[in-house]
Amino acid sequence: MEHALVTGCAGFIGSHLSEKLLRKGYQVTGVDCFVANYDRKIKEKNLARLQTHSRFRFIEQEILKMDLNDVMDKVNLVFHQAAMPGVRSSWGQEFDHYVRHNVLATQSLLETAKDKKHIEKFIYASSSSVYGEMKGPTDESKLPQPISPYGVSKLSGEHLCHLYYKNFQVPTISLRYFTVYGERQRPDMAFHKFIKRALLEEPIDIYGDGTQTRDFTYVDDAVEANLLALKHGREGEVYNIGGDSPISVNEVIDKIEKIVGKPVHRHYMDAIPGDPRHTRADIGKAQNELGYQPQWKLEDGLKEEIRYIKQLYQF
Ligand code: UGA
Repeated sequence: MEHALVTGCAGFIGSHLSEKLLRKGYQVTGVDCFVANYDRKIKEKNLARLQTHSRFRFIEQEILKMDLNDVMDKVNLVFHQAAMPGVRSSWGQEFDHYVRHNVLATQSLLETAKDKKHIEKFIYASSSSVYGEMKGPTDESKLPQPISPYGVSKLSGEHLCHLYYKNFQVPTISLRYFTVYGERQRPDMAFHKFIKRALLEEPIDIYGDGTQTRDFTYVDDAVEANLLALKHGREGEVYNIGGDSPISVNEVIDKIEKIVGKPVHRHYMDAIPGDPRHTRADIGKAQNELGYQPQWKLEDGLKEEIRYIKQLYQF
């Protein structure tokens, strides 16, 4: 039986990916150390469904403190989703955590994987933030120039994947996710905060003038990209995983206002350093090579996230 290691399995994308792998018949070993970026209880809820599954085993541990040899001896696939996430919070002393969880932990996994020739794929969750500023649809050939310390840490992880592929043939593939949203989205992310505030009829904080755009990607599409990469991805390569529907923050709030059916009070603040003005994926490579095609329309994905937020906070 195929046996996958999913790091960050209690997180937003990692929990959905683990559930999908179980539905497809895989055995899953999930690892998570509950980094203190948000309420542990929310991550425990993400894990709840997984923990009832007979083919799921959970290890609560930090990657750098684990016996990785033992874990990697048993699996043939690795989905490395664990990270210290968040663009705007990666400045100053906080960067220590980003280096630890995003760079050192990735290197440690790859170092172990290089001696495990039975590992068939090592899929790394990269980020649109490796690019920095984008002018229109951007493909993977653009020179990455991150503008946040977080972006630097994710790009370092990506480079590590590539060099372990080049030197030791670790079968790595990096997926550059573009602002993923949907059920279980992290509480520090825009849609989660916007929807919660809208439902509570509290003002929404907007960083900058709200005309910045993002290529928002629904979580099911990002998860599906992992399975497609497993089947069709070329080792040593990087793929953009975008939602194909770029939209401004102001327009998203208009949509939320309409769906929630309550007037939203907008509180404009200064833009935050590290935030790119625009992100937009050219997904041609993922379409051609992986057969990736985002299935979710923004309105439908937003409705799913609104349903989740109501349930989470019992509104
Ligand atoms: C997201 C994730 O948080 C990163 O972990 C991920 O790597 C990145 O996407 C990616 O694309 O790779 P971000 O695009 O900043 O980062 O996602 P959101 O937090 O959803 O923010 C979207 C936009 O809303 C940004 O322009 C942000 O400035 C804005 N925003 C966010 C606000 O105006 N107000 C808020 O309260 C929060």
